[in-house]
Order: sequence, then structure tokens, then C-alpha cells
Amino acid sequence: MKAADLIVIGAPMYNFGMASTLKAWFDHVVRAGITFRYGEAGPEGLITGKRAVVIESRAGLYSEGPAAVMDHQEPHIRTLLGFIGITDVIFVRAEKLAFGPDAASAAMAEAIAQLGSFVDDELALAA
Ligand SMILES: Cc1cc2nc3c(=O)[nH]c(=O)nc-3n(C[C@H](O)[C@H](O)[C@H](O)COP(=O)(O)O)c2cc1C
Repeated sequence: MKAADLIVIGAPMYNFGMASTLKAWFDHVVRAGITFRYGEAGPEGLITGKRAVVIESRAGLYSEGPAAVMDHQEPHIRTLLGFIGITDVIFVRAEKLAFGPDAASAAMAEAIAQLGSFVDDELALAA
């Protein structure tokens, strides 16, 4: 992770949060003295100068509407990444995957298009 310029995280929503496997990964990665440290000014992230892409999939709709308050996935992931110094984060959401086949394919197409334009931008930057 320290060697990476770009970190890509796949994150299904499980029970309104991240999957336990991803939480376990964070529990290994967010370590005092390695990826963050406490100083006189409080906590300081040590993994700086990196970007992250988090691809979130959800059966329901949480980016807006009545269930938005139940999204404990994206804020938690944003907090954990920010805590270790990764603040340049893009979230790509495939939502409404259980709202019927039309909603699911539209959500997937939109997420794929967002990822495509992100990759195009990255390749342009790298050229
Ligand atoms: C154990 C479990 C819990 C889930 N909880 C939620 C949830 O709280 N909200 C939601 O919108 N979708 C929920 N889902 C649906 C998943 O988010 C959806 O299936 C996932 O984004 C697609 O990844 P998968 O290929 O691992 O199923 C849940 C799925 C599983 C298996």
C-alpha cells in the first residue's frame, strides 16, 4: 500500500456498512506508528500523496432519499482513508441493484462509465 500511487477498493454494502472482510483489511492497515501517528496536534495520517477509488455496490439507494441516513458504509470508508492520510478519494456507486433489472443495468452502466472516464483522465495524466 505504501508503494501504490492509486488504491482501488471494491466495497459491497452489507447491513448498511462495509463488508466484514473489508473492515478486517482496514483493521490491519490502520495502525498507529505505521499508517498514522498521534502527535501534539492529534492524529496525523502517514499515507500521503495517494489517490483512492472506492467502488460501492448496494441493493438499495443511499446517495439520496430517505435511506441516506442509513449509509454507514461511505462515511466510514471516507473516515478511515482520511485518517491515514488518503483524502483524494473518488466514490463510484452502483446503487438500486435490487430495484429490478432495468434499474440494475442502468446503475451498472453509469458506474462503468464513471470508471471509464476516471481511467481516461488517469491515462491522460500519466501520458
Ligand atoms: C450479507 C449481505 C448484507 C447486505 N446488506 C445490504 C444492505 O444493508 N443494503 C443494501 O442496499 N444492500 C445490501 N446487500 C446487497 C449487496 O450490497 C449487494 O448484493 C452487493 O452490492 C453486490 O455484491 P455481491 O456480489 O457481494 O452480492 C447485502 C448483501 C449481503 C450478502
